[in-house]
Amino acid sequence: MNPPLPPNKYHPLAWLAGEPVIGEGTWIGAFTLIDALGGLTIGRGCNVSSGAQVLSHSTARRCVTERGWDQLDRSPTEIGDFVFIGANAVVLMGCRVGHHSIIGAGAVLTEGMEVPPYSLVVGVPARVVRSIESEVATWRAEGAGLAAKAATLANQAPGAAR
Ligand SMILES: CC(C)(COP(=O)(O)OP(=O)(O)OC[C@H]1O[C@@H](n2cnc3c(N)ncnc32)[C@H](O)[C@@H]1OP(=O)(O)O)[C@@H](O)C(=O)NCCC(=O)NCCS
Repeated sequence: MNPPLPPNKYHPLAWLAGEPVIGEGTWIGAFTLIDALGGLTIGRGCNVSSGAQVLSHSTARRCVTERGWDQLDRSPTEIGDFVFIGANAVVLMGCRVGHHSIIGAGAVLTEGMEVPPYSLVVGVPARVVRSIESEVATWRAEGAGLAAKAATLANQAPGAAR
């Protein structure tokens, strides 16, 4: 039987294998597999949703050759800053995902896939469906507007400090 999951600072039900390099402010949910056996970098401010798997190795060839090919295949995976990885998405080894991208729920990024920054990626196999760069700028501006409005309302509330 395999030993229990090694402890990590993200979630008791996340499995971090090897030694991934993970940036500040990144959130990793339950039932995730974060595989650094082939090398893995995840940037800062990312969200890795529950059930997602980010891989950097494969035993496929070793398995079907009855260990005639007696080694792990490894290829480093890189996830840029502020990338959102949706629930149950799978990122196979050797992928490079550019910063500020969204990977939709259930997407499967095939080995070695290159994703430009600000991409929306969905499907099996995953495809880049569009750039979200202008949408991100709009969301940031709208978010700042909402925050300013909330602050104004809080200041106008009865009993607010003046
Ligand atoms: C990708 C996502 C963010 C939607 O983004 P969006 O900009 O609203 O996408 P759109 O609705 O414009 O969809 C674009 C295309 O991708 C398809 N699509 C969207 N999400 C998809 C998904 N997860 N898998 C497959 N296809 C998907 C749409 O059907 C559409 O296809 P079409 O152009 O053929 O009609 C959302 O569907 C998603 O997967 N969110 C993940 C949520 C999640 O995992 N939450 C975990 C807790 S935070």
